[in-house]
Amino acid sequence: DDPLTWPALVDGGSPVHLCIDNTTHRFGSSRTAARTLAYRLTKGKVIVPGTTSGYLGPTIVVRTGTPATVTVTNQVTRHPLAASIDTALHGASARDRTRPRTTVHLHGANSRPVDDGGPLDTFPRGSAGQPPFPNPTTYRYENNQDATALWYHDHALGITRLNVYAGLTAGYLIRDTPDTGIDTGDGTMLPAGPHEIPLILQDKAFTAAGEQYFPPAPWVSESFGDTPVVNGVARPYLTVDRGVYRFRLLNASNARFYRLGITVRGTGTVVPFWQIGGDGGLLNSPVRMKQLLIAPAERADLLVDFRGLAPGTVLEVGNSAAAPYPAGSPGTPALRQIMQFRVTGRTGWAPHRPIAGMCLRPVTPVRRLDRPAASAPVRTHSLVEITDPATGDVLMVLQDNRPFHDPVYASHPVTPDTLEVWEFANTTPDNHPIHVHLVQFQVLGRQPFDARRYRREVYADASGRVTAGSGPYPPPSPRGYLTGALQPPAANEMGWKDTVQAPPGMVTRIAVPFGCGAAPFPIAAREVYSGDYVWHCHIVDHEDHDMMQRYRVA
Ligand code: C2O
Ligand code: CU
Repeated sequence: DDPLTWPALVDGGSPVHLCIDNTTHRFGSSRTAARTLAYRLTKGKVIVPGTTSGYLGPTIVVRTGTPATVTVTNQVTRHPLAASIDTALHGASARDRTRPRTTVHLHGANSRPVDDGGPLDTFPRGSAGQPPFPNPTTYRYENNQDATALWYHDHALGITRLNVYAGLTAGYLIRDTPDTGIDTGDGTMLPAGPHEIPLILQDKAFTAAGEQYFPPAPWVSESFGDTPVVNGVARPYLTVDRGVYRFRLLNASNARFYRLGITVRGTGTVVPFWQIGGDGGLLNSPVRMKQLLIAPAERADLLVDFRGLAPGTVLEVGNSAAAPYPAGSPGTPALRQIMQFRVTGRTGWAPHRPIAGMCLRPVTPVRRLDRPAASAPVRTHSLVEITDPATGDVLMVLQDNRPFHDPVYASHPVTPDTLEVWEFANTTPDNHPIHVHLVQFQVLGRQPFDARRYRREVYADASGRVTAGSGPYPPPSPRGYLTGALQPPAANEMGWKDTVQAPPGMVTRIAVPFGCGAAPFPIAAREVYSGDYVWHCHIVDHEDHDMMQRYRVA
């Protein structure tokens, strides 16, 4: 077993310079060094000496309303997962084996199109990158949004899953009052300093030689690892004092959902915890939970209270989600145990008041958009799987049954400063985490519908077969297909979100305020910029094979 480590925190108050390099990293002390990619800090002040190594990258810390710049140089000379590059996918080519493109997306950020690090905004090593995306490229972040945990990661069209898996993922914390988080002095209501710990959760597989394993080309619809990795450490443990800790959890896995719970080793006693925030900021008040279902790209801001536990107690963080989620597949490794907490005899940090009574957002509570959304325009999107009629294998998963390069999106732009309802009618057997760039939104709820009939009547030909590109755009409303009542969002989904779980057989509805003119009260992401963005499934295997579309703000 190895202790948990975590990346260095870096002050984004002055320009941050990162370089993407070929690196190596040991995922455990008994493992050999594996070839990786990483974001490495080349200049700038590290505010917490960390373990920034050859995997992931520094966590950048900024303040709401204070802009930051991040300059990124691509120096990658060979892709560590070159054999997995499928040159039949959009964007991918043989050149990516020795000069992989990159683009850095700040996930969840309220960014201008040119700073969004979209899938087409790529640059390789050397001088081939064209303005506005030369090598290096500088991104400007306004940070004009609520305090929360964002993350930055690679987004290069067709090789995102390989670049992210190789190591190009890192944290980005936006601070504000009362979410000060930096000092442990009086008046801070949340654990900070050594009691606030980022957890970047992934699943990984390794070759016999100890290298990172990803299925070789051709593309597979989902890849799952058999080893849980947290902050780059395989199945780690964390030593904790008898106090309250804040964990900034990110599911940075390729395709895996987790249903996490904490139990006492030996007795199996369940230890409840609290969720205090989600993708876009804090909830209004803590939500007590025994299990957390977290999809790829979602973040959960958690408090775990170790005060009542006897010194020496060992806690297991377990996972009970099937993979793929929710149906599972017989050959997929289950990953039942993720990490451990080992409780010391020392007294740790304690809040001034009981966690249950905390008011997390005294200044700008999250106000619900359900009422304004009732009269907002509705944009229907469908999720459609294309299978091989001979084998039943998944060939690709599409949004609106359109490939990424279809230009039809441009004729249906979003008007700035409007509120829209987006609904995702999922006709596939999988839950897809849908992420929309630029905005933070609210989950309105989910409603069951007759997905088979919708798919058949909207997309199938006379023989019942669905081929990519068929059917009308935009997709027709699923209203005539609904089979049950609207299910409200879970208590821990009531805050601002940028990624939503869209379960199979459900129409998932979100209210999306495009700019602060779109709501009669403060919203999490305040600006709307004109231009093209993307929305996509964050199962990165899907995203890399066309489960991504552009949308236009104009
Ligand atoms: Cu986290 Cu478009 O991505
Ligand atoms: Cu998907």
